[in-house]
Amino acid sequence: MCGIVGYIGPRKAYPILIEGLKRQEYRGYDSAGVALIENGEIVIQKSAGKIAALEDSLEGHDFEANSGIAHTRWATHGEPNDINAHPHTGMTGKIAVVHNGIIENYRALREVLKRQGRIFRTETDTEIIAHLIEEYYEGNLLQAVRRALTQVEGTYGIAVICIDDPDSMVAARSGSPLVIGCGEGENFVASDVAAIIRHTNRVVYLEDGELAEVSASRFSITTLDDVIVTPHLQEISWSLDMIEKGGYDHFMLKEIFEQPETLKNAMRGRLNFEEATARLNGLNLQFDELHHIRRIIITACGTSWHAALIGEYLIEEFARIPVEVEYASEFRYRSPIIDADTLVLIISQSGETADTLAAMREAKRKGATCLGICNVVGSTIARESDGGVYIHAGPEIGVASTKAFTSQMMVLSLITILLARMRSMSYEKGEELIKALNGVPEQVKKVLSLNDEIRRLAEKYRDKNNFLYLGRGINFPVALEGALKLKEISYIHAEGYPAAEMKHGPIALIDENMPAVVLAPKDSVYSKIISNMQEIKARKGIIIAIATEGDKEIAELADEVIYIPQVNDFILPIVGIIPLQLLAYHMAVLRRCDVDQPRNLAKSVTVE
Ligand code: AGP
Repeated sequence: MCGIVGYIGPRKAYPILIEGLKRQEYRGYDSAGVALIENGEIVIQKSAGKIAALEDSLEGHDFEANSGIAHTRWATHGEPNDINAHPHTGMTGKIAVVHNGIIENYRALREVLKRQGRIFRTETDTEIIAHLIEEYYEGNLLQAVRRALTQVEGTYGIAVICIDDPDSMVAARSGSPLVIGCGEGENFVASDVAAIIRHTNRVVYLEDGELAEVSASRFSITTLDDVIVTPHLQEISWSLDMIEKGGYDHFMLKEIFEQPETLKNAMRGRLNFEEATARLNGLNLQFDELHHIRRIIITACGTSWHAALIGEYLIEEFARIPVEVEYASEFRYRSPIIDADTLVLIISQSGETADTLAAMREAKRKGATCLGICNVVGSTIARESDGGVYIHAGPEIGVASTKAFTSQMMVLSLITILLARMRSMSYEKGEELIKALNGVPEQVKKVLSLNDEIRRLAEKYRDKNNFLYLGRGINFPVALEGALKLKEISYIHAEGYPAAEMKHGPIALIDENMPAVVLAPKDSVYSKIISNMQEIKARKGIIIAIATEGDKEIAELADEVIYIPQVNDFILPIVGIIPLQLLAYHMAVLRRCDVDQPRNLAKSVTVE
């Protein structure tokens, strides 16, 4: 999952491209490159490492070029180095290509092209595209790209420039996101609106199988079969400062502290106090369709999958509808049983995760109604689902998801109340839960005020290399998410486990070097979790407990206690994850890790 950007217009392209790359660096950051049409030739510069390394390598150059393409990479084929970095060219150097995605049949195509005398310089799949376009180029870049793409299998978002055609560029999409930015006398292409939002908020999302020919004054879209497509222009509501750090050291910390606001956004206009239920206008389902749901499948990846587990607990508990949670990457390849009254919920912050998108398409192929729970407006999952709910968390730049997770849980709580009030839930119970949700932002604010205390805790345990996260019931997925946050950004090995499951194996890991973070609020299984904590203490384990304010007993058992406010069990997961986000953040900072761009990861996994 790389980030590509292209510019064509009257201004100098280089600074616009570099800034566009930086805004997409969270998509991939192991190497980068740029290609500019400068004085009648294509100038290419590529370098391993962050975009800053590319900039350094071009220090002092003042390019006049008014058009160019650029790329920031998350390597799939060929290790991250100066040669495998994009852009790639064919043999003549006349055509340059940047690509986000995977060409699955690149080996076969490479053998064919080699037999035709072509010489390959890189280990990448992308170089194939450059050679194919060159093979078919007879003076019309768009036609050459179209013919080349009929040969490739796999996923792509590409941008292509050609020295013989300096006044336009070609972009194409199949499986990887691509957007055209419409400016005044200039145009942009990018993987993500963040790359171009400084210049325009008027965009057109390319659909799968579409190509765009883009010049400074206009652009046209056609399909691979050369059918003209009428562009669907959209206005983006995100502003530039929403994608700035706003004075925080890291996007992740900013996004953690944005949660009181983002949780308000996730429920704005959706709490129906009068009828003690939720109002979700984007579902596109009639009352009786919602009423006839007999089974729900929730599918997602990573943190979104943890939110799905929370959804399972809530919907089964309150709406009494059986729920199955599926890893999207598994769901897409096994033949799921889908019948008419099965609803499939698709959760994805980016709305572009390849496995989740494919799982949705598989469910739709089997006749399921698919509702998306997404953050990125206009993303592929949002556009292709039958309906859904935006979580309105704003741009999430930090690779480790935080505010999207809590807003996903907020939306799942709203869906739960909506479905439950249609079934057995009373007005009083609905009212209680609606009030609890409405109070969440204030509760989260209280927990955020523990930031310094949690940093001190991180300082104390910063050298520990293994952690266990434990929770019971609905706190088990919260433990999973806490462990994932620590793994992702501090590279500490951490495992989340149902607390009772510990004695069936993981308890063997317990010793004075293995802290156990235990979610132990005063809920319905409190006494059970206390017994699990005693099992840990009996083996000299260290306990960091997340407990309810005023719980003195637990302080006798735990080495450290982080107190969170007494809240309704229904909203406990949203409040309970905050200390774990902060703990992971401070551990990573203290261990000098790159918090916003952790190694080997990327924000949106658009390849399989
Ligand atoms: C979470 O911190 C990670 N960035 C990752 O696990 C992420 O949740 C997963 O890739 C799913 O992304 P999505 O929600 O955009 O589909």
